[in-house]
Order: sequence, then structure tokens, then C-alpha cells
Amino acid sequence: MVDEVLAKSFERIGADYDRYRPGFPAEAAEHIVPVRVRTALDLGAGTGKFTELLTARADRVIAVEPSVAMLDVLRTKLPDAVALEGSAERIPVEDSSVDVVSVAQAFHWFDRESACAEISRVLLPGGTLGLIWNHSDPDCAWDRAAHRIAHPAVADLDATTDSAAEELPGFQLVRREELCWRESITRTDYLSRWWTVSSFIVADDRTRSEMTAAVERVLDEDPATRGRAEFELPQVTDVFLYRRA
Ligand SMILES: C[S@@+](CC[C@H](N)C(=O)[O-])C[C@H]1O[C@@H](n2cnc3c(N)ncnc32)[C@H](O)[C@@H]1O
Repeated sequence: MVDEVLAKSFERIGADYDRYRPGFPAEAAEHIVPVRVRTALDLGAGTGKFTELLTARADRVIAVEPSVAMLDVLRTKLPDAVALEGSAERIPVEDSSVDVVSVAQAFHWFDRESACAEISRVLLPGGTLGLIWNHSDPDCAWDRAAHRIAHPAVADLDATTDSAAEELPGFQLVRREELCWRESITRTDYLSRWWTVSSFIVADDRTRSEMTAAVERVLDEDPATRGRAEFELPQVTDVFLYRRA
């Protein structure tokens, strides 16, 4: 069941999301679009962090996103992409008109049944659906601890991504890839990143300050981050490749 308040939290941010959130490794796009296609659609495109990886892989790139604040940033960054206001449940694109649909860090916000029906409608027969999620490295104790502060209800932090491997109506899972990479991040940017996460956005000021203080305590206590202004953050990107049945 999708939490509507959390799903709509992205209406409140744009530039900060683009500045502080991690991007995706180019390899993720290579898995989804190994050979150049005519049209690729990025659904729940946000500020275009994954969309930009599609621009070298498709003649025409369409970005669909419900948040106007996010779309404004995307339009500035990627003026050649066709940026459309819309949702996964109502994709403003013609039937059988795209070769590939990608969904980065957003599929868990969709109504699964109606989104799958819409994605099937716009995809050409045999077309590809690629679902992508960045998540924390299980071996990085301090980042895992910070994730638990942001998502206390999620006992298993991989629950959202693992659920993607389930069968999707009208699709066949053909491959799953796990890509490991690292980024250097300053303590300040790491803390600012959490303020772009839905649970922080919707929290009241007092709760948000308490959550931030809890993340700061984690950074102050872990030997990998204690006393450091910058640290190495390991990231894992999961790619799920589906074929339209
Ligand atoms: C975590 S952001 C990911 C944005 C972008 N794909 C990225 O990876 O940076 C989730 C995005 O999903 C969008 N979203 C939420 N509900 C949606 C829906 N029903 N259909 C399409 N997009 C939705 C949000 O507005 C937000 O931009």
C-alpha cells in the first residue's frame, strides 16, 4: 500500500534533491539499454538523475514526473528531453510508442497493478522495463544505522528492492544485476541528503531535528566517520530487467 503523503513529499523539493541525492552508475543504463533505441521513457523521473544516462542511448528521451518542482529542474538540466507532467498510473504517451521504460528509485511509490497496465500499454511488444534502486551497502554499519533512523518501520532495509523481484503483471523478469560503487561525500552533504528523503520532508521541524541529531550521533560514534569532514560512502545499485510478455 503506497503512503500518499510520503509519495507526494517530492512536490516540495527540486533543486535540493538534485544537489544532494546520488546519481546512478552508467552501467545501470547499459544493462537496460544495451543498444541504442528510438524512444526511452523515464517514469517518476524526478530531476532527471537517471534520465540523463538515457540521452546517449535513445534518439528520443521522454521524462514523466508528477512533481512540477522536480520537472522544472529536469527541464533546465535536460532541455532536449521531452518532459511531461504525469504519473505511472496515467502516462501521457501513446500506445506502443516506446522501446524502453526505466523507473529509478520510484517504483515503490506506484500503484503496482495500474502502473504495470500503463507501462504495458505504452511499451512496444517485447519492450524492456528496467527498475533501478540505490540502496545502502549491508557492510556499511554507519549508513545502515542512518537508514534505520529514516525508515524505522522497515525492519529489513532491502524489503523495497527485494519486492521488485516479484512477478509483475504482464512482465517477465529476465535479469537482475547488482552494481557496487563508491562516492566521496562531505559530512555536510551527507546530512543535507537526508533532508531530501521523504520521511524527513514530511516530519515536523522538531522530529526532523531529532532525526538529524540521531544521524549526527551515528557519524560521531563510528570510527569510519568520527571527526572526518569527508568520507567514502559505498553504494549498491540494483537493476531489475523485465520484458513485456
Ligand atoms: C525518490 S524520487 C526518484 C526520482 C528520480 N527517478 C531519481 O532517481 O532521482 C521518486 C520520484 O517518484 C515520483 N513519483 C511519486 N509517485 C509517483 C507516481 N505515482 N507516478 C510517477 N512518479 C511518481 C516522485 O514525484 C519523485 O520524483
